[in-house]
Amino acid sequence: MKVKVAINGYGTIGKRVADAVSLQDDMEVVGVTKTKPDFEARMGAKKYSLYAAIPDRMEVFEKAGIEVKGTVEDLLERADVVVDCSPGKVGAENKPLYERAGLRAVFQGGEKASVAETSFSALANYDDAVGKNFVRVVSCNTTGLARVLAILRDMYSIKKVRATMIRRVVDPKEDRKGLQNGIMPDPVRLPSHHAEDVKTVLPDVNIVTTAFKVPTTLMHLHSIAVETDDEVRTEDVIARFQDEPRIMLFSKEEGFTSTARIVEFAREYRLRYDLFENAVWMESINFHDGELYITQAIHQEAIVVPENIDAIRAMFELADKRESVRKTNKTLGII
Ligand SMILES: NC(=O)c1ccc[n+]([C@@H]2O[C@H](COP(=O)([O-])OP(=O)(O)OC[C@H]3O[C@@H](n4cnc5c(N)ncnc54)[C@H](OP(=O)(O)O)[C@@H]3O)[C@@H](O)[C@H]2O)c1
Repeated sequence: MKVKVAINGYGTIGKRVADAVSLQDDMEVVGVTKTKPDFEARMGAKKYSLYAAIPDRMEVFEKAGIEVKGTVEDLLERADVVVDCSPGKVGAENKPLYERAGLRAVFQGGEKASVAETSFSALANYDDAVGKNFVRVVSCNTTGLARVLAILRDMYSIKKVRATMIRRVVDPKEDRKGLQNGIMPDPVRLPSHHAEDVKTVLPDVNIVTTAFKVPTTLMHLHSIAVETDDEVRTEDVIARFQDEPRIMLFSKEEGFTSTARIVEFAREYRLRYDLFENAVWMESINFHDGELYITQAIHQEAIVVPENIDAIRAMFELADKRESVRKTNKTLGII
């Protein structure tokens, strides 16, 4: 029996989660939703069964010649779990709908942590989601930080983490907002909220974060300094990262001089140039005066996709952490 998954919100994250669910042998997509009858809705209707996220908009789709199978409520009736991929904060508004339908739900990082029983990042706290009804997959930046810190936490005694995030201003498809020529402290008031978000999945890690936005759409970049009680051998960290499929090492030696080059590689490597892995610069891994330095890039559109799959498996107790991560990695080509 496959777990029936509804995707509420077929945008940047929703379309990727839908495709990833379709690749699993223990779950299937029963439908996706949109509010607007645009090109993404047309694509969604071609690939999956499309439903109207706002019930009284059915007519708009019909007028545009896009087939809709019903309303979101009709879709929820057919599902065992809904992955809410609506815009930030809308997930919390949708939650009563899921509760009324008696459905489990996975929320995204644009929601407050309080929307769910637990926040989730597979390598950090898989077991916290086991058997839960409401789980929130943390944001792209937090997922990127949590993966690296979960690995290092198991290797060393961490005193303090300082991380600076240089964030892409918008996603590539967003043409209505942006930042053309400037560097924006965001938030201006420091430290940033990202550290608190990391603590929702790694409560014992002492971390402080700052964040800025720059005019790029491709990836985020993180500069991480991890103060340790132990002496760190960089070769041990590199070896452990090489062993971890959700981390991919890149080298300046091979021409990876910026996020542009990582994306150029990813364009050949995977559909939609989705890099589900943390892209860590090998040469950046360095231990100096008690601190381990790491620079990584995060493909914001893709990084949370494997975690959404693992969250569903944990909630339905379909597999333990090791098995779920192994299956997700295999099906998504994360090697
Ligand atoms: N993009 C990223 O980099 C990223 C990374 C990690 C996490 N996240 C989080 O993932 C979530 C989704 O972000 P996104 O970037 O995928 O947004 P998006 O591209 O704007 O997609 C949002 C989707 O939700 C639909 N929608 C709008 N109102 C809705 C409603 N009331 N109920 C259900 N669906 C509704 C939209 O349909 P219409 O277009 O038809 O209105 C659209 O398909 C957010 O919480 C965000 O913070 C985003």
